[in-house]
Amino acid sequence: MTEQKNIPGHIAIILDGNGRWAKKRGRPRSFGHRAGTDATRRIVQYCGELGVRILTIYVFSSENWRRPPLEVTMLMRLLIEMVRREIRELNKNNVRLNAIGDLSLLPGKTREVLEEGIRNTSANTGLVLNLAISYGGRAEIVSAVQSIVRDCLKAKVKPANINEELVGQYLYTAGMPDPDLLIRTGGDLRISNFLLWQCAYTEFYFTPVLWPDFDRSHLDEAIDSFQRRERRFGKIMES
Ligand code: IPE
Ligand code: IPE
Ligand code: MG
Repeated sequence: MTEQKNIPGHIAIILDGNGRWAKKRGRPRSFGHRAGTDATRRIVQYCGELGVRILTIYVFSSENWRRPPLEVTMLMRLLIEMVRREIRELNKNNVRLNAIGDLSLLPGKTREVLEEGIRNTSANTGLVLNLAISYGGRAEIVSAVQSIVRDCLKAKVKPANINEELVGQYLYTAGMPDPDLLIRTGGDLRISNFLLWQCAYTEFYFTPVLWPDFDRSHLDEAIDSFQRRERRFGKIMES
């Protein structure tokens, strides 16, 4: 069990390694994605218990649309299955579901079930489970720029008033604090277009553990590492 004080308020996770996990077992990639949903359930539950306020999980990137159509279809179906199956559990644990990304690209049914899940958990006041789906950091910034320009043309925004705070209000994460801790599983050391704006001062934690194997003890290790760090935000610490 990790130290209860200084728990990161917002944890973001790039879940990676499902395909490799399946390959090691001589099974199709879909087997790994399915096993990955068990890890997601474990970690959502644990974050709720730890008192994390927001958990943002990268489940499907803008770039993942370029995977073979069969894998994409399978992932979209899995999403429906997972939201449907977990709704009761989320409500029991007071978890509010939210989604960030370009949801207009999702197949109708996936979007419908996701929005239903968001509606059905909207009164919950505990952990916010933020699923990044069809999400890309650059696409998010482009979409914010378009909306800001539109509002400038409508004279709702003055160009001189565009600042970091205003830009933040046009992102999918409007109203949410930036992530304190970003975890990437699967051993790759990159951000893969995740939360580019929001991670300006986020602490990064990379682990070779493949997502289906990621459990409470691995999250403890990540949080312990976070708790040992000194966040300076460009300043210097007075001794
Ligand atoms: C992460 O696992 C899940 C998604 C990106 C949808 P991968 O499918 O990327 O698994 P690897 O990286 O190929 O092992
Ligand atoms: C990042 O994983 C995206 C998600 C976890 C949804 P990828 O497997 O798509 O990333 P790359 O291609 O290795 O950078
Ligand atoms: Mg991957």
